[in-house]
Amino acid sequence: MKYKACGESGLQLPLISLGLWHNFGEVDDRTEATKMILEAFDQGITHFDLANNYGPPPGSAELNFGQIINTHLKHHRDELIISSKAGYPMWNGPYGNGGSRKYLMASIDQSLSRTCLDYFDIFYSHRYDAETPLEETVQALIDIVRQGKAIYAGISNYPADKAQQAYALMKAQHVRCLIYQGKYSLLFREPETEIIPANSNAGVGYIVFSPLAQGLLTDKYLNGIPENSRAAKEHGFLQLSQITPDVIATVSTLNELAKLRRQTLAEMSLAWLLNKKEVTSVIVGTSSVSQLLNNINCLNNIHFSDEELKIIESITTKHLL
Ligand SMILES: NC(=O)c1ccc[n+]([C@@H]2O[C@H](COP(=O)([O-])OP(=O)(O)OC[C@H]3O[C@@H](n4cnc5c(N)ncnc54)[C@H](OP(=O)(O)O)[C@@H]3O)[C@@H](O)[C@H]2O)c1
Repeated sequence: MKYKACGESGLQLPLISLGLWHNFGEVDDRTEATKMILEAFDQGITHFDLANNYGPPPGSAELNFGQIINTHLKHHRDELIISSKAGYPMWNGPYGNGGSRKYLMASIDQSLSRTCLDYFDIFYSHRYDAETPLEETVQALIDIVRQGKAIYAGISNYPADKAQQAYALMKAQHVRCLIYQGKYSLLFREPETEIIPANSNAGVGYIVFSPLAQGLLTDKYLNGIPENSRAAKEHGFLQLSQITPDVIATVSTLNELAKLRRQTLAEMSLAWLLNKKEVTSVIVGTSSVSQLLNNINCLNNIHFSDEELKIIESITTKHLL
């Protein structure tokens, strides 16, 4: 594994991190989930990304992760970076959703209890909430860090202007925002215009979610929808309506380029992100150990020639997702 400093901080993150949004819930194969977490750690993946609502059902990914970590990796706690988040709907009523201090404070306690951890390494506000003053959400993050419930704070899915305001508010109170978590991939280039430059200016790390566009940036959907794939699952977030002929044509062309580079499309897609100096780490979501190992292989070649980059630009400049 290779590691990179997260923005202008002293925290090194692995170039590949493992996310538990899908494939680690109560509905999933617990044996494979355990194997993936242990294999990831053996491969130097020190960072595991959770949120209160990951499952399904919500909360079950944290429960499973806590049991697996406490059974197998308890004595390695200081070698791990474990993150969680709150922001999307988690429980009924007005205090289980959004960015209020009430929600964030209650949610981190629930998440710590589910995972049986004493603290998270990173705690995120999962989304910007226009109905809560930004100052309130940011103050809750600062206080969570000061209380020792998280070592660092981060934000996710914030529009660039609100992210910059949050960074300034946090800096003024000497609790710097460590990291921004955002979607980015060969099929989703929007972050390049605003949020990535804003993050670089602020010295905040950028960690990518859905780097494989939930599996679209692999060869798996080139000939239909495989059984058990995310798109085929009722609780999967990849909608069949997203798998359009246009997307498949783009993915096929990218797949040919990957073959010329002697990489799988998954490897090339991750390598393309990791080639960018602004990207700290990519969070992959995998449903098997073999997918995880394939993704780690991308580290064997994250270099692109100017010619390859030009070809990629010509294929992907349309925002397809
Ligand atoms: N902050 C946020 O709002 C937010 C939102 C989304 C995600 N996230 C974080 O980012 C993590 C990753 O997101 P994601 O799961 O969408 O990531 P992703 O890596 O883009 O997609 C993961 C899916 O791609 C397929 N896949 C992965 N590696 C493969 C390979 N080598 N070959 C073939 N197929 C492969 C698998 O699909 P199958 O299941 O079909 O096998 C897997 O479930 C999440 O777990 C979560 O931690 C955060």
